[in-house]
Amino acid sequence: MPKLTFIEKDGNHKTVEAPSGLSIMELAHKFDVDIEGACEGSLACATCHVIVDPNWFGKLEEASEDEDDMLDLAFGLTETSRLGCQIIMSDELDGLVVTLPKDDVPNLLMD
Ligand code: FES
Repeated sequence: MPKLTFIEKDGNHKTVEAPSGLSIMELAHKFDVDIEGACEGSLACATCHVIVDPNWFGKLEEASEDEDDMLDLAFGLTETSRLGCQIIMSDELDGLVVTLPKDDVPNLLMD
């Protein structure tokens, strides 16, 4: 089964067995990792924001326009940011590493 590593806000590395077909957000919930996912994957929040390891970023399918729009609202956006609900685990992603952003307060609330 593919493995997925979350780097949590405190720097802790948590590696889990990640069944193909589940999203990073769903896996975070399954394994008690602190990703909110308020809209449960319907691209209506940015609370599932994760920072993908640069070595893996190019191996993911490109983000859709809707995902990019929603990502713009994520706090602490980086070059390799993605929405966790849009990354679906597969055998090809065995070993994927994602980091949780330090703070997930949307930019909207910061203005
Ligand atoms: S869970 Fe809301 S956009 Fe991913």
